[in-house]
Amino acid sequence: MSDRDVALGDMSPDEFRRAGYLAVDWAADYLASVQDYPVLARTEPGAVRRRLPASPPKAPESLESMLADLTSVIVPGITHWNHPAFFAYFAITGSGPGILGELLTAALNINGMLWKTSPAATELEEVALDWLRQMVGLPDGWMGIIMDTASIASLCAIAAAREAAEPHLREQGMAGGPRLRLYTSEQAHSSIEKAAIVLGLGRHGVRKIPVDREFRMDPGALAAAVTEDRRAGWRPFCVAATVGTTSTTSVDPVPAIADVCARERLWLHVDGAYAGMAALLPEFRWVLEGCHQADSVVINPHKWLFTPIDCSAFYCARPEVLRSAFSLVPEYLRTTESDQAAVRDLMDYGVQLGRRFRALKLWMVIRHFGWEGLAARIREHIRLGQQFRSWVDAHPDFERMAPAPLSVVCFRARPADLRARADEHDGYLDRLNEALLEEVNATGRAYLSHTRLKGRLTLRLAVGNLRTTEAHVREAWDLLQQHAAQLDNKLRTE
Ligand SMILES: Cc1ncc(COP(=O)(O)O)c(C=O)c1O
Repeated sequence: MSDRDVALGDMSPDEFRRAGYLAVDWAADYLASVQDYPVLARTEPGAVRRRLPASPPKAPESLESMLADLTSVIVPGITHWNHPAFFAYFAITGSGPGILGELLTAALNINGMLWKTSPAATELEEVALDWLRQMVGLPDGWMGIIMDTASIASLCAIAAAREAAEPHLREQGMAGGPRLRLYTSEQAHSSIEKAAIVLGLGRHGVRKIPVDREFRMDPGALAAAVTEDRRAGWRPFCVAATVGTTSTTSVDPVPAIADVCARERLWLHVDGAYAGMAALLPEFRWVLEGCHQADSVVINPHKWLFTPIDCSAFYCARPEVLRSAFSLVPEYLRTTESDQAAVRDLMDYGVQLGRRFRALKLWMVIRHFGWEGLAARIREHIRLGQQFRSWVDAHPDFERMAPAPLSVVCFRARPADLRARADEHDGYLDRLNEALLEEVNATGRAYLSHTRLKGRLTLRLAVGNLRTTEAHVREAWDLLQQHAAQLDNKLRTE
């Protein structure tokens, strides 16, 4: 086959329009019926791969055939994060306006690496993030930038902290330099430790501070650890506090941690990936209390602001430090506009050069729902979480494993007759709860995940999907009660 036999160029506009309608219809039908699928994929490893051709098609194929395969081969291997009974991890929603924003972003397909390579992309990112900053009450004048994930935002924050503490490391590298120490709690997300690995601090460069009974960092222990480390020759440089830890959504005492950071001249980064968004509600503003004293904060619209993954909002009080950590401009990326005060080249504030136009979907989500509409939805998720919490608390055969300030509840089945000296039964309760999670998830009617708290296997129910109603939470609760009772009978007679 020669090139002359092949039609060149893209789809024609008419073909695009026709295929686009089909794709949008597919998405609309999917979203309208998502509750009919099993939440958790029931696919054996390798099953999807086996059903796909091993080599690429030589000749063009139609969009109809692709959509047919999407339905018959791909969808059965999908775990439906859009399902109203998705209660695992942090439940999310790619809302209608967000999905359409993704479509339009792909249509524009700009690369916002420099202001000049798409001025509107940079400026819309600045505006959309400033709107979000106002909604959660972070300080005026902070710079906002979109990162793909909170993991990368925290990596950038820690790189900026290193730059602030030891600017020569950027040139000289870590070998032979001071032994840098980063502090975070035992409950912090693994992304903090991963950032330390990437930045050459190593895992030994991270000191995990103990938490109190409610899983919050102990600021007294933090202060003592910093003093001890200085004496031992470490160079403390950064604290990563968490607002809404992954396991329990505990909120570190940021004001007290900020005081330690101010005294010890440490960069304070706040990981509010999930819970930061609760600050949209006046009654939950407290979750970001003390953050005005931080140097950087990350919150994730792709977790709890109905924006399709990925979209993480990174705020920095000291953008000039972030810039000096990352800016490296070769000749081919120089522009005459870069020196103007009103121009920001976003490539200078992180690792990546190429930059998707993620601000468009965030802007569309905020405009579609409005500040009040977003707040009302988050408030409803918290109400549903609290409803579930009250059911757990009232049930003799279940126990709550952590405070539940927001929309996530940590709990386990613990039959009433095992209430006394529950510690002695932990082995059995771990087995019971592990089996309970497997069984409930296998029904396809709800999907929960787990964690381990104080060594005990703990189930988590997280509300965060726009389609979730009280009936869905109730069904999950009914399933949990029914399967827990059956399993307890079965396991005790084994
Ligand atoms: C507190 C916290 N930080 C960071 C992350 C990582 O988020 P991302 O997937 O955006 O990197 C998570 C994920 O659940 C999280 O719970």
